[in-house]
Amino acid sequence: MSVNDELQSTIDDMVDGRRGILAADESSGTIAKRFDAIGVESTEENRRFYRSTLLSTEGLGEFVSGVILFEETLGQVNEKGTPLPQVAAAQKIVPGIKVDKGKGPLAGSPGDMITYGLDGLAERLAGYKAQGARFAKWREVYPVSAHNPTRLGLTANAEMLARYAAVCQSVGVVPIVEPEVLMDGDHSIERDAEVNEQVWHEVFRALHRHGVVLELMILKPSMVTPGKDCAKAPPEQVAEYTVRSLRRAVPAAVPSINFLSGGQGPEEATVNLNALNQLWQAPWQLSFSYGRALQEPALKAWQGKPENGSAAQQALLKRARLNHLAMLGEYRDGLERE
Ligand code: 13P
Repeated sequence: MSVNDELQSTIDDMVDGRRGILAADESSGTIAKRFDAIGVESTEENRRFYRSTLLSTEGLGEFVSGVILFEETLGQVNEKGTPLPQVAAAQKIVPGIKVDKGKGPLAGSPGDMITYGLDGLAERLAGYKAQGARFAKWREVYPVSAHNPTRLGLTANAEMLARYAAVCQSVGVVPIVEPEVLMDGDHSIERDAEVNEQVWHEVFRALHRHGVVLELMILKPSMVTPGKDCAKAPPEQVAEYTVRSLRRAVPAAVPSINFLSGGQGPEEATVNLNALNQLWQAPWQLSFSYGRALQEPALKAWQGKPENGSAAQQALLKRARLNHLAMLGEYRDGLERE
């Protein structure tokens, strides 16, 4: 199979108009924070048990077409000794891998961040592929202030995403390109729209420069919302601003846009995705790639107790199903209580 055929078959397995992605790729520091919130210690066994439980959820493959894993998870096995990527694949959930190595300040540009991890990426990807990963994820982070992101912040972060995506495609791994505009702060929804548009323009310019095939990638952006310190915007307004900005900046060749939840609550992220899909104005599939918005209820149900495993699975399955309905524009809040 040619590299392009390989990429296309992964896209075909992930983009079907009805399913989204489970982001379960929390780094060691982040998963420790999530576990801490429910009083669970972040040991390797607890992380293995929790993630194995999520991936074994019966029926999850009906609503989830891909799962982003952390490097450690890629090498872990379930109780029967089956590697976790295979547990996902058996449910028709394509395993993927977070490949960036976290972020730090962008030198010379106060307030902007930059992500690390390009060195040796092709070799790392070859190893991940051998373990079953068929797609990858890389996240650049953009704090919003009156001055940020700066022009340098916009171009430097876009360049990283494009270089990463080009390397992925060259070895037959579908890149998820994630430019996350942070919700932190008190900026207006107008300012958030302006920033996201600038970010996306710059990202697609860089992707073009690096010869990335748009049909063979997935975009994982933030929704356009006001900053966290402001009152929430109604879902219809989030949907209008988000789709308007995306239409201005994202080529129709991109097959799927899978939003991150970025601090939106589980119900909020579902309601907003539903409003986006009810606009019927998008040339791309509008789907989810939620971490917290899918996992929060599952974590709460689990509480680190093996006997709560099936309650955690039910909580995850419910959110996955409701987000699947939101992709169809068929979610209504009564479903939360059923
Ligand atoms: P959240 O949905 O919790 O923002 O996580 C998505 C993700 O993958 C962030 O990189």
